[in-house]
Amino acid sequence: MMQSNAYPLLKPWSLLLAIAALVACFAACTDAGRTAEVVDLVPRVSGLPDTVTFAEVAPIIRANCMPCHREGQAGPFPLVNYTDMRRKARTIRKMVVNRWMPPWPADTAYSHFLGERALNARQIATIAKWVDQGSLIGDTTNLPPMPTTKDATMSGMHPGTREPDAVVWLPDTFHIPGDNRDRFIIAKAPFELPRDTFLSGVEFVPGNRQGVHHMNGAMISYAKGAKQDVYSGATYIDADSTQSLDAYGDLLLQNDDGTWPLLTPNMVNYLPGLSPPIYPPGIGGYHIPRSGAFLMNTLHYGPSMRDTLDRSRFNLWFSSTPPGRPMKELQLGTLGMSPVVPDLVIPPDTVMTFRTSLLIPADISVLTLNPHMHLLGKSFLAFALTPSGDTIPLVRIKEWDFRWQFAYTFPTMLHVPKNSVIHVVAVFDNTRANRNNPYDPPRTARAPVGAHMRTTDEMLQFFVNYVDYRPGDEQIGLDPE
Ligand code: HEC
Repeated sequence: MMQSNAYPLLKPWSLLLAIAALVACFAACTDAGRTAEVVDLVPRVSGLPDTVTFAEVAPIIRANCMPCHREGQAGPFPLVNYTDMRRKARTIRKMVVNRWMPPWPADTAYSHFLGERALNARQIATIAKWVDQGSLIGDTTNLPPMPTTKDATMSGMHPGTREPDAVVWLPDTFHIPGDNRDRFIIAKAPFELPRDTFLSGVEFVPGNRQGVHHMNGAMISYAKGAKQDVYSGATYIDADSTQSLDAYGDLLLQNDDGTWPLLTPNMVNYLPGLSPPIYPPGIGGYHIPRSGAFLMNTLHYGPSMRDTLDRSRFNLWFSSTPPGRPMKELQLGTLGMSPVVPDLVIPPDTVMTFRTSLLIPADISVLTLNPHMHLLGKSFLAFALTPSGDTIPLVRIKEWDFRWQFAYTFPTMLHVPKNSVIHVVAVFDNTRANRNNPYDPPRTARAPVGAHMRTTDEMLQFFVNYVDYRPGDEQIGLDPE
């Protein structure tokens, strides 16, 4: 789809006119007008109570909204008690009838995952009716007790997960200057634990959610007695401006005798909305030493217009069982095991489709999927084609949204037979119609060249976490609860 480029000189004016119209609308389009547009979206369901009160609404909101909308989570305000919900009633109604909240980009008509959050027609109609009737409190004596999970996970995708067993903070605060530049930092978060133990999950929690764009982390394990002071050395190194030939040296990561400690690469990553999967005992997991450090090979701060601060942390969940079957990862697309076809170059004013596919040479059991694109992503589809011609649906995202980079875990292990091919089909929108387009007028976007990616580079990646297949895996549930 091409936008007309015939009148380039007129374009700024048409944009101004559009903005003027928008401003005029903000002033003139009344609430009545908006409500009228929204009413049709409320699903028609029969059998709702004549009067809907907080008692009906609270359980829906607490299960589907509160995990993010509470103290310390990603949501911009709490939705925990009656006052919170009443205050936000109109916006809540708008968000749910338009199906903007709760965010769940994966198409539930295509495949199902753990922690799936999508309201059904009855739930949406219940909330809408409650708001329309004036958000009444009603009789609250029969309300189920408040869920007790507090600061479980960053994005709230594991509402039932217990609180972390330990928290490892970065030792210092990072100052992000307001100079509108991307920053690629190498950082470390040392730790000392009471003893060696096992880990079922680890999660990176950004201190400054606006500032942190992404993070790739590894774990360093010091053998007993190999390093006296794990806290010595710098915490943050600017990878672009460091004068040192050996940034890792400045972090003083080496053992006291100068040798290098054991490194577990790619152990914990962060993207907006991404919550790391935690599996039941017997699958994945790590051994964590008494003394070590999380090494952030890349801690990417996006451009900021004002000076801000960040101090991030790692949440750890211990386990009483040793690591289970080793987790493996396929990475399709940009910087991965399969090329993007055609090359990921998206000229301005185009909507383009790209593909990548990978042959699976042995039987695998798929656990978790993570599709990844940046701001120009429009839609994403992944499926496997078996040698006998069957299609195994993986994930479909009809409307890509950069803010919600979820990791999708299947309810039970998914067997993908030997010699299947995983196919990914992704559409990118580099027109002005894409409201997330970072440039106006649009500019050519491409995959990152060299090691560092900018927010405005594009990517097409698909991560597949799996274990080697064993007969009977199809029956193994992945819910850690
Ligand atoms: C996965 C986390 C998550 C869940 C679950 C979630 N929200 Fe949100 N919500 C957010 C974040 C983050 C924002 C901030 C705005 C944004 O980035 O879109 C937000 C914004 C909002 C807003 C403000 C939108 C605006 O434009 O002012 C409302 C209202 C809202 N959410 C209601 C809900 C309701 C109602 C539910 C449940 C039905 C829900 N949210 C579930 C994370 C979540």
